[in-house]
Amino acid sequence: MLIHRRKHADDAVKAADEALPPKTHRASEPSEERHETEAVCAPWISLQDICYSYGQEAEGGQLRALAHVSLNLYPGHTYVVTGPNGCGKSTLFRILAGLSFPESGRYLFHGEAVTRDRMNDREWSKTFYRRLGFLFQNSETQLFCKSVREEIAFGLLQLGLSGEEVQRRTEQYMDMLDIGALAERAPFHLSGGEKKRTALAAVLAMQPQTLILDEPEAGLDEDGEAWVTGFLASLKREDRLIIIATHSRRLAQEVGGEEIRMTKAHTISSGM
Ligand SMILES: Nc1ncnc2c1ncn2[C@@H]1O[C@H](COP(=O)(O)OP(=O)(O)O)[C@@H](O)[C@H]1O
Ligand SMILES: [Mg+2]
Repeated sequence: MLIHRRKHADDAVKAADEALPPKTHRASEPSEERHETEAVCAPWISLQDICYSYGQEAEGGQLRALAHVSLNLYPGHTYVVTGPNGCGKSTLFRILAGLSFPESGRYLFHGEAVTRDRMNDREWSKTFYRRLGFLFQNSETQLFCKSVREEIAFGLLQLGLSGEEVQRRTEQYMDMLDIGALAERAPFHLSGGEKKRTALAAVLAMQPQTLILDEPEAGLDEDGEAWVTGFLASLKREDRLIIIATHSRRLAQEVGGEEIRMTKAHTISSGM
């Protein structure tokens, strides 16, 4: 079983294995600091001319979700992906999380192509999910255990940690997310904010260096949004890559990431 926390497998098209000419957007205007970063370290994530559509041509045409998306994303950076509903943010994130595969173009994670074949290789995908954590836009997609405690322990057990370490980290992350009092509650019956904290605890407990968070403010009230904004800002580290999709101006500004703007045409907006 995969260690990734998901209920639904995706039925995406097969991954492309051919290298394509990179037409890579930078995630921000060039700066001296960025040149230095790029000079000393390779991107952890490289998307090269990615296209993705839903549906089969035989079934009445395809619905384009990503059109020629290229990006290089570096450790120590936080990127905030913005754009109107339906522009392709969640599709992009599912590809980054190895749940969908592009119809053309390449996705490299730490220099290695992420393909359907590789993700079907248990050892490879285990290593992948040790390094990358994904928070779904809808927490209910992510939560399926009988209690909050089990929900957090689940991924840690999949990592093969000792029982003692699983228990230690479960307590640590319930404390961090302030959900200790909910430990024995069924995630399904929690409020939106409590579900979000539980899902975040489950992802963070696995201590991934790359965090991909799809609208972490979704379903939260104003206080919840303020809390998640402050919490995400506190996660920034030199050896961590954080990618957040959001509709919240406040979150985008206060987390202080570099903006990646997506357009209605399912591209990254020019000038980046
Ligand atoms: N499972 C699906 N089947 C068919 N079309 C989909 C599916 N998921 C998303 N889409 C379509 O793909 C486009 C991009 O959607 P999505 O990636 O969810 O955008 P965003 O997250 O930016 O709102 C939209 O037109 C949406 O309707
Ligand atoms: Mg979305």
